[in-house]
Amino acid sequence: MIAYRAFTKRFGRQVAVDALTIDVRAGETVALLGPNGSGKTTSLKTAAGLIHPSAGEVLVGEPGLPASKPSARQACSFLPQKVLFPEALSGREVVEFYRAIRGASGERTDEVLRFASLNGAGDRPVRTYSGGMVQRLGLAVAVLPDSPILLLDEPTAALDPAGLVAFYDLVERRRGAGRTTLFTSHQLGDAERLADRIAVLVDGRLAGTFTERELATRLADRGSMRVRLERLTATMLAAVREVCPHATVEGADLVVPGTAAVRPRALEKIQAAGGIVTGLTTEEGRLDRLFLELVAGEGGDADGGRA
Ligand SMILES: Nc1ncnc2c1ncn2[C@@H]1O[C@H](COP(=O)(O)OP(=O)(O)O)[C@@H](O)[C@H]1O
Ligand SMILES: [Mg+2]
Repeated sequence: MIAYRAFTKRFGRQVAVDALTIDVRAGETVALLGPNGSGKTTSLKTAAGLIHPSAGEVLVGEPGLPASKPSARQACSFLPQKVLFPEALSGREVVEFYRAIRGASGERTDEVLRFASLNGAGDRPVRTYSGGMVQRLGLAVAVLPDSPILLLDEPTAALDPAGLVAFYDLVERRRGAGRTTLFTSHQLGDAERLADRIAVLVDGRLAGTFTERELATRLADRGSMRVRLERLTATMLAAVREVCPHATVEGADLVVPGTAAVRPRALEKIQAAGGIVTGLTTEEGRLDRLFLELVAGEGGDADGGRA
């Protein structure tokens, strides 16, 4: 449905996206995850036909057409990271304007205003809207045509709670209806909850593609357990290292890195060595650190071929 083929975008000498190759299949919900400046917006805008590739191509629809072709653009609906509407128009007038452009039926106006919880505010000028309401209006406009492909740029960053509810509901419904959704985020939570697959972009490069489960496991791999002991001895450390060779001592604590699976075994070793646990904390892997590791290539197959 969306095919990035060695897609590269340069702005002057700056490479925003570097040879991105990834397919978003029909009916899939894919999250494009990555730190700020990693090329998410550029990739999404290109699929929306708003940016032209410097090299490679981005094809959308079935059969795939270059994203900038008018018929390809008809298949897509795009919610920008920051939406702007004429302040003097009412929410309803904004929706009507876009409805006319996209050729959606008359009843869609009320439907999408209701969907975005703006039915009470539809006749007020946009200038009286809160930031969250403007963002919800953007979401309402984006869902007007019920497009086969929906592109959402950081939809959860600026949405208020009512908008988030609408957004989660929207993605679930589209999934059920076999529609294709590509959204960007710099937070793991949304991606984990909503996406079939998560593509990680770092510095314009695809650092990896993961299922939600794979990503969760990878993060858990990077977690650790910190055990405070009444008295920490060399024997205890040696015993724990039998099950976790990288266990270390930090101040008064014994630190056991790795997945949750290793933790009970490490605790058994401590007990068997006569240790008395006075405190215990655990920490799961952090996404920002995983990003860095993926870039450094320490994360293993940083070739995008995991999914
Ligand atoms: N119009 C532009 N002109 C120059 N540089 C740009 C432009 N758009 C994006 N960039 C640069 O390209 C890189 C990727 O940006 P962007 O796609 O917005 O990343 P993200 O959405 O992941 O934060 C950044 O370094 C950004 O500064
Ligand atoms: Mg962005």
